[in-house]
Amino acid sequence: MAETNASTRKRIAVIPGDGIGKEVVPEAVKVLRAAAAVGRRDLAITEFDWSADRYLRDGTTLPPDAVEMFRRDYDAILLGALGDPRVPSNVQGADILLGLRFKLDLYANVRPCVLFDERLTPLKARTEKDINIWVIRENTEGLYSAMGGFFKKGTPDEIATQEDINTRKGVERIIRYAFELARRQGRHRVCMSDKSNALTYGHDLWQRVFKELRAEYHEIESSHMYIDNLLMQMVRDPSQFDVIVTCNLFGDIASDLGAGLIGGLGLTPSGNIHPGRVSLFEPVHGSAPDIAGKNAANPIGAVLAAGMMCEHIGWNAEARLIESAVRAAIREGKTTRDLGGTLGTREAGDWLASKIAAGSS
Ligand SMILES: NC(=O)c1ccc[n+]([C@@H]2O[C@H](COP(=O)([O-])OP(=O)(O)OC[C@H]3O[C@@H](n4cnc5c(N)ncnc54)[C@H](O)[C@@H]3O)[C@@H](O)[C@H]2O)c1
Repeated sequence: MAETNASTRKRIAVIPGDGIGKEVVPEAVKVLRAAAAVGRRDLAITEFDWSADRYLRDGTTLPPDAVEMFRRDYDAILLGALGDPRVPSNVQGADILLGLRFKLDLYANVRPCVLFDERLTPLKARTEKDINIWVIRENTEGLYSAMGGFFKKGTPDEIATQEDINTRKGVERIIRYAFELARRQGRHRVCMSDKSNALTYGHDLWQRVFKELRAEYHEIESSHMYIDNLLMQMVRDPSQFDVIVTCNLFGDIASDLGAGLIGGLGLTPSGNIHPGRVSLFEPVHGSAPDIAGKNAANPIGAVLAAGMMCEHIGWNAEARLIESAVRAAIREGKTTRDLGGTLGTREAGDWLASKIAAGSS
């Protein structure tokens, strides 16, 4: 057996979750193990069964000591998806995923939308040069803060409120993250998107902070677009975008639109990141109950999320291996049906893992 280097040992927590999460995560782990073997890395994986099944069995969602444990004992977390029709309140999803995002303070949700093959876009005559957009979504504030309430619930006079939280600290750190990412990756443009013409308090703050920070990054072209226009422009001419930074809700929507431009939700990864701290990586898609249990889900989003995780933990060569295996699979049609291939989830994962292993021999 190959000797491993203990100084590179990384401890990864894996939460498959619900629905297709339980199918795509094992494939991502398979591919991750193959890449780690090529790089002779020491990888320690621990799986956690937090999910709708577990919640329905014993009421567990996110155990009280989980956050401390992840901070203390792990380098990163790989998650599948949460959501199950048997739990209409989605309490396990909110507690586990939003709980980890908020409690670990994973403020940057990074969602690359890169067109790996021009056959995958519904747009005409577009290549990777045109569609290579990194959506940076604020991940700990906004309308997802679960602040609000009901008044006269269930009556004709019912009132429901949902608070939109925007803090100076939160807005500043996510806009700065976007500029720093652009600088690090040699990207030239950052577009901030808000709805400050209608949300005249919260998004006025975004406007003021953006104007202040853009002055610090002279070499990067910075622009602003209202979210409604931005979504239309992403479809009309995606080549005008490079890095987009926006609030929690708008980033959630813009990144799904971005996924639609590059071949669908099966392909897109994301990182929930706090630089320098334990962070969480997951495919952008949900638990897809419509295809769960059929060996039909595309594992690429989860596999690329594992690739982003490799980069976060400093395994850059392994991240590149994973991305090039994915590019090869798409090029050679070794994919699931959503991308026009004939493989099942497991077979697609097997192909990627053996591609990586074969590349090393
Ligand atoms: N991060 C998360 O855990 C997350 C994100 C979004 C939705 N959800 C939850 O997932 C459940 C289903 O939500 P939804 O249907 O709106 O979104 P979804 O992303 O699960 O599915 C949307 C559509 O995309 C397809 N799709 C998704 N992933 C795919 C893949 N890997 N391969 C092939 N096709 C794929 C599905 O079949 C479905 O038609 C809900 O409970 C929702 O709350 C969870």
